[in-house]
Amino acid sequence: MKITFCCTGNKPEPWLAGLHAVLPGAEVTVWEPGAPRADHAVVWAPPQQFFDEQTRLKGVFNIGAGVDALLKLRLPPQATVVRLDDAGMSVQMAEYVCHAVIRHFREFDGYAADIAAGKWTYRKPRERAEFPVGVMGLGVLGARVAQALAQFDFPVMGWSRSAKELAGVRCFAGAAQFNEFLASTRILVNLLPLTPETRDIMCLQTLSRLQSGGYVINVARGAHLVDDDLLALLASGHLAGAMLDVFRNEPLPSDHPFWQEPKITITPHTSARTLRDESIAQIAAKIRALEAGQAIVGIVDPVRGY
Ligand code: NAP
Ligand code: GLV
Repeated sequence: MKITFCCTGNKPEPWLAGLHAVLPGAEVTVWEPGAPRADHAVVWAPPQQFFDEQTRLKGVFNIGAGVDALLKLRLPPQATVVRLDDAGMSVQMAEYVCHAVIRHFREFDGYAADIAAGKWTYRKPRERAEFPVGVMGLGVLGARVAQALAQFDFPVMGWSRSAKELAGVRCFAGAAQFNEFLASTRILVNLLPLTPETRDIMCLQTLSRLQSGGYVINVARGAHLVDDDLLALLASGHLAGAMLDVFRNEPLPSDHPFWQEPKITITPHTSARTLRDESIAQIAAKIRALEAGQAIVGIVDPVRGY
């Protein structure tokens, strides 16, 4: 069995060594133009030329959860496209989002500013019930995040395409329940995949429906958010702030107004990183299963877009 590796921005040696260790019978090589055709591919942001040449692939394993960039390419029609299914990302996402929510709710930035100014001051404790959190996307990551938030006794809402039941989470589904979900939410967390249906979903119209003093946490994709609309709602005071991990252009260009907006906290697309060992173990198990004709989870539906 031949496995080709084409992951832009990732040092190949440790991945190759790891894949060799768990799939000792396989020939694992770094792709270069003109390389022989392989059975399976491990990819991140490959060029179109990769798929134009690798026409016999049975499996394409994306080393991330989001496949929006991959699905823009022409893929071999027979290949099964597989995304990472948690692989250590959901706990990282839960940490990041709980941190963001608690930091805002408990006013830790305000305390840090006071302490930096040598001031020992108290703020009035806030009512948790006045900070309902709504999570858009209740998949592998969103469900874990929603349930982690519920552990801190925040009122938690969730919104997904199909109806769900999650302990401690009030679930909404589909376009018909979107406005009710937004109106019940003060802190909005985005964990949707980027698809034609969800692009620009956080815009003036939808963010205006959040409860007054709203807060936005975007950990999915930059193109979910209309940047100017967020800035306008921060300026008007309808939104109190935002914590953003993802941007339309990454790295965020140095002249982007988000850098200068004190109500926005920026992190460099780091909320849930791909963990190499967990990912290799998951991909190897799925390659073995596919070769044995067994079912696997995490198969991408190219029509649905995730
Ligand atoms: P997932 O398991 O596929 O979950 C996607 C969720 O979104 C599902 O609940 C799905 O509903 C819902 N959804 C999709 N389209 C919808 C629509 N039109 N309306 C309402 N709900 C919709 O994905 P995941 O593994 O949780 O990952 C989510 C995203 O997180 C990824 O696509 C990626 O962009 C992002 N991500 C970011 C980072 C980072 O470091 N910032 C890291 C990893 C992932 P159903 O359940 O009904 O299908
Ligand atoms: C990271 O953004 C991912 O999709 O895994």
